Amino acid sequence: MALTRSLTRRDVARLLGAALAVAAAPAPRLTRRADVDALLGQLTLEEKISLLHGARDPASRGQAGYLPGVPRLGIPEVRLADGPAGVRVTASATALPAPVALAATFAPDLARRFGAVIGREGRALGMDVLLSPMTNIVRVPQAGRNFETLGEDPLLAAAMVAGEVRGIQGEGLIATAKHYAANNFEHDRQSVDAQVDERTLREIYLPAFEAAVAAGVGSVMAAYNRVNGVYAAESAYLLTEILRDDWRFAGWVMSDWSATHSGVPAVTAGLDMEMPSGVNFAGLAAAVTSGKLAGSAVDTAVRRVLVQLDRFGLLGGPRPRPALDPRAGARTAREIALAGAVLLRNELDLLPLDRADLAGLAVIGPTAAHPLAGGGGSARVLPARAESPLDALRRQAGPGGRISWATGVDLEGVPVPASALSLRRTPRGGTPQAAAQVDHTGANALPPGTSWTWTGTLTAPETGDYDLRIQGAGGVPAFNGSISLTVGGVRTGSVGALIGGNSSLIATSGGLTNAGGVVHLESGRPTPITIAATGAPGTPLQVRLAWITPRRRQQALREAAALAAGARAALVFAFNEGTEGADRASLALPKGQDAVIEAVAAANARTAVVLNTGDPVLMPWLERVPSILQMWYPGQEGADATATLLLGGADPGGKLPVTFPRRAEDAPTAPAERYPGEGGVAVYGEGVFVGYRHYDANDVEPLFPFGHGLSYTRFAYGGLSVRAADGGLSVSFTVTNTGRREGTEVAQVYLGPPPRPPVPMPPRALAGFARVRLWPGERRRLTVTVSRRALQYWSDGRWVLAGGRRTVHVGSSSRDLRLRQEVAVR
Ligand code: BGC
Repeated sequence: MALTRSLTRRDVARLLGAALAVAAAPAPRLTRRADVDALLGQLTLEEKISLLHGARDPASRGQAGYLPGVPRLGIPEVRLADGPAGVRVTASATALPAPVALAATFAPDLARRFGAVIGREGRALGMDVLLSPMTNIVRVPQAGRNFETLGEDPLLAAAMVAGEVRGIQGEGLIATAKHYAANNFEHDRQSVDAQVDERTLREIYLPAFEAAVAAGVGSVMAAYNRVNGVYAAESAYLLTEILRDDWRFAGWVMSDWSATHSGVPAVTAGLDMEMPSGVNFAGLAAAVTSGKLAGSAVDTAVRRVLVQLDRFGLLGGPRPRPALDPRAGARTAREIALAGAVLLRNELDLLPLDRADLAGLAVIGPTAAHPLAGGGGSARVLPARAESPLDALRRQAGPGGRISWATGVDLEGVPVPASALSLRRTPRGGTPQAAAQVDHTGANALPPGTSWTWTGTLTAPETGDYDLRIQGAGGVPAFNGSISLTVGGVRTGSVGALIGGNSSLIATSGGLTNAGGVVHLESGRPTPITIAATGAPGTPLQVRLAWITPRRRQQALREAAALAAGARAALVFAFNEGTEGADRASLALPKGQDAVIEAVAAANARTAVVLNTGDPVLMPWLERVPSILQMWYPGQEGADATATLLLGGADPGGKLPVTFPRRAEDAPTAPAERYPGEGGVAVYGEGVFVGYRHYDANDVEPLFPFGHGLSYTRFAYGGLSVRAADGGLSVSFTVTNTGRREGTEVAQVYLGPPPRPPVPMPPRALAGFARVRLWPGERRRLTVTVSRRALQYWSDGRWVLAGGRRTVHVGSSSRDLRLRQEVAVR
């Protein structure tokens, strides 16, 4: 028989090796390896180097990065675009919910679909590489980019990252796991040294990257920061030992934007590509010529790039691109916004609202009227449209609805009156002229491409804190000019930059970008003020100096409370503005929103708060607000999803992927040496006790625990059975919907340490989960597989089983554990 040839030992070893390699990182199309090598042989040294660093795109679509390719050999141009919540180019794309909302779904399949939307759109919009998923773990509750992450737990993040990578790459776009590694906050991000012990790296910060590699991710982005003294972008330990030797990563590593610090040392350590330009890598040719760098090192890097281009079919001539499918994108965006919404609190079952509530509903807050679809920085996406929650509520309420709105917090103000100003304005190269006000909007705009400076003084009519706003044309991120406001010698507002300015993510009602800050002014005392504005060519320059006076602020608060007092129920939309480039100064809601919530809740006992935040906020008003719905930054379809959930058209099925602390001091990173660090060093002294592991180990009561999320129905748990399976555990139990509505539950399996843990271990660590949707009365037996890895810890360079009697907990959150069973682990 043909099948009888017996296998030699060597055959078996070879087959097993191949199988392991496939499991570790689905290999590229090795059949083409010879072709890739032949191609490499035809490249000149200069051509090779041109494949290893970014360049200016002569036909930019507004994306982040570009490689010119080598047209004479059929190596195409390569365009690389952000990012984690959708494709960021000049054209509009589907703005998906913030990744943290995706994480809240605990649904790897939704992560795959999220990725597929971006993958298809990226290809359709002319991109080849996507700079996503963001694979870093939430460590610091106020970190600027928390909204871009997949939460604080490594097992959850790993599952979601793997799903997303498969989704993106399944559409033919190359995904990038970023930012490798230990890039967990923005303060001094370009240089801070994250000092992390190896066990913590392996158990907390690396598993999601490892999962991305196992899912076949084509590229990895090295982070800005240092890790244990060495820049991540030139760390042989990270880039070669772990990534290539341990995980068998077959793709290429690019640096974050301007995160490359050297040429030869970086390449030698394992960095393959400098982005976005060749400041360091352009010199590699000379290094090879002069013998400082082996030509084979360049070949290795180029081969890694070419192998991936080949794997994604980019070397065989122009690859057809799909058409955009905005409807499909919108459907997925909506579904994920619904699925990731977390009902934090629902006393009195105030939510969902009923018809009577809709007939007298007060809606309060700026983000009710101006949707906050996404966070800021490189993850900002320009959707074609985004409805406001207020409009969606009115639409869904229909003719019987009576819904009124008040801003509660005024973010926009009014133009600073001439009576408070003494100004001269000077056009670039021109002579100064007197100016009464700075209010050049609409028909009154200044000519395109011009530059102006206003100098003089500002005098307040009464002493107090004034929110001074500088407002300009274009709306982020399309505005290419710049506008700045300096008050009393301090730069108070700056409009223009995607990262680094202080523009609000919420435009003015007229669509102007809105930046600024609070300044204390004394009545009658003139304060020097300067405004500098440069318009983009082709667009009239709009610029306005506005303020929110103390009186105006009080008035907005009073109006909101009055509106709520006369309503049957009140909804307050509250927000924070997560953005790359800056951490939040405080965990509190900004802009006096706490006072507004207090005032509204005092005026109406039936008050619900809807949060549009990317991460935890403090809630001093918690006990006075019966219901809280966390919608995150819900993407372009967020308004419809929000209204649907508030009105009971769907069950909020999400669970918190991050712990919400009661007080900032309770966070594991509260000591300054841990965050923001001292002398440029942040000591990750909490070790593996990140997120809920810290709160549980130290018996600190969180405001809302990891994994928490209510439903409009109730679930009962029972029938736990645990058995050994495949080196890990198989955990089965039954979940029953005991309420009267259909609902979604995410059942969570946590694992306790052995009685005498070999290393410090948290009381419980997430070991598996299952999301299930049940009809009223429906009961489902679920089986969750706990992998062997979940039973191990990292010690002395390897994974070691933490054997002995261990407790398996099953429940509805990390602090709502319903079932437990001890198992002998060996
Ligand atoms: C960010 C990256 C991003 C890159 C390109 C950097 O500032 O850290 O996440 O992909 O810019 O926009």
